[in-house]
Amino acid sequence: MAETITITDDRTGQTVTVPIEGGVFPASAIRSLDPSLFVYDPAYMQTASCKSAITYLDGENGILRYRGYPIEQLAEKSTFLEVAYLLLEGELPNPDQLATWTHDITHHTFIHENMRKRFVDGFHYDAHPMGMFVSALAALGTFYDGAKDIDDEESRQRQVVRLIAKTPTIAAMCYRFSAGLPFNYPSNDISFPANFLSMMWKIGDEYELNPVLEKAMDVLFILHADHEQNCGTTAMRVVGSSNADPYSSAAAAASALYGPLHGGANEAVVRMLNDIGSIENVPAFIQSVKDGEGRLMGFGHRVYKNYDPRAKIIKQTAYDVFEVTGKNPLLDIALKLEEVALQDPYFVDRKLYPNVDFYSGLIYQAMGFPVEMFTVLFAIPRTAGWLAHWQELLADKEQKISRPRQWYVGPETRDYVPMSSRS
Ligand code: ACO
Repeated sequence: MAETITITDDRTGQTVTVPIEGGVFPASAIRSLDPSLFVYDPAYMQTASCKSAITYLDGENGILRYRGYPIEQLAEKSTFLEVAYLLLEGELPNPDQLATWTHDITHHTFIHENMRKRFVDGFHYDAHPMGMFVSALAALGTFYDGAKDIDDEESRQRQVVRLIAKTPTIAAMCYRFSAGLPFNYPSNDISFPANFLSMMWKIGDEYELNPVLEKAMDVLFILHADHEQNCGTTAMRVVGSSNADPYSSAAAAASALYGPLHGGANEAVVRMLNDIGSIENVPAFIQSVKDGEGRLMGFGHRVYKNYDPRAKIIKQTAYDVFEVTGKNPLLDIALKLEEVALQDPYFVDRKLYPNVDFYSGLIYQAMGFPVEMFTVLFAIPRTAGWLAHWQELLADKEQKISRPRQWYVGPETRDYVPMSSRS
């Protein structure tokens, strides 16, 4: 069977045949037929906007790989910092590279005092931590001369290190401010997830780190580090394509993530479980979903039509965390929901399975994070993915400034009507 596609423009009878590679054919085929002919594709459902060698996702078979490595192996055997290096550099670090990378990240975790004292203190006392986080990312870029030197490789690398190192500090700072608690400075002698947990929860000098929670945080960071061309990553690439600095681009990506259809679903799961209240109410709730009265949050995915491989790992992590924190009382409701839904033809026929958000909120809640922090917890590791895509974009000679076309459906030209003649 020929791996080509032939398109005929019936208006002119002109034909073009182009290769299909990896399930994709170039839109330049259409341009060659007629440069003023465009493809209408709202939400880019059928459009590949770039070539990428970072993350492979097969939704039909529940496969997720970073740079070729299965997510299951990375979650079990690696650390977030190793994964961040892998995403950015394309290869797992050797011991020397990992030592240098860890040192660099660890020694860039502090933020300028003005960020904390002047910038954050300007927020209203009940500001949403994610709104603060988004603004803080953009503000951070104003502190660095080299932020805009995106053509200079050394400068780019410095900004990458800064962003990955400082997002946990900013996240913890936003939480401490919204909780009315004093800011905790970063510690250089503990791991990346441990440092974040310490900045979140330390009271005075007191914080007893539990290794199970440290590992769980790291696994959650690994699972959320990248997910190819989702809404936030696309925002990073679109803004980055104008040669904006990486801080502004990451702020745009974080803004996209802030939306409840993207990074906010785990918060919605916890709210839904609270509303259901007890396992006796599960059948009635499932029936209401089937009657079209709402969605089963944490189920279904645009790409995964089998299972979300991250959900399986997260479910196991949830049990590990509950051993330490005690069981989240919402777990029984979640398990019952999953059991009922996975046997119900409504969900089975529509290929609706638990997604990454179904259990992550329960873990975050058991670890003490308020629901408002859930999206911020997602943004910390996703920063590594955003930056990997930003670097890939800048190195890609086929890319230009993002500029989709539109299908104009407004009025034809008409003459201005003076105010006195308007009814
Ligand atoms: N509960 C009940 N029914 C659902 C659900 C759900 N969670 N998800 C999809 N459906 C149904 C739809 O009603 C539709 O049924 P129909 O064919 O009878 O009309 C069918 O399944 C297909 O649904 P679409 O909306 O077309 O699927 P789409 O791929 O556009 O949506 C989405 C994917 C947004 C994730 C959806 O499944 C959803 O809303 N899930 C709940 C929210 C959620 O958990 N989001 C997190 C996703 S993971 C992430 O972003 C990190």
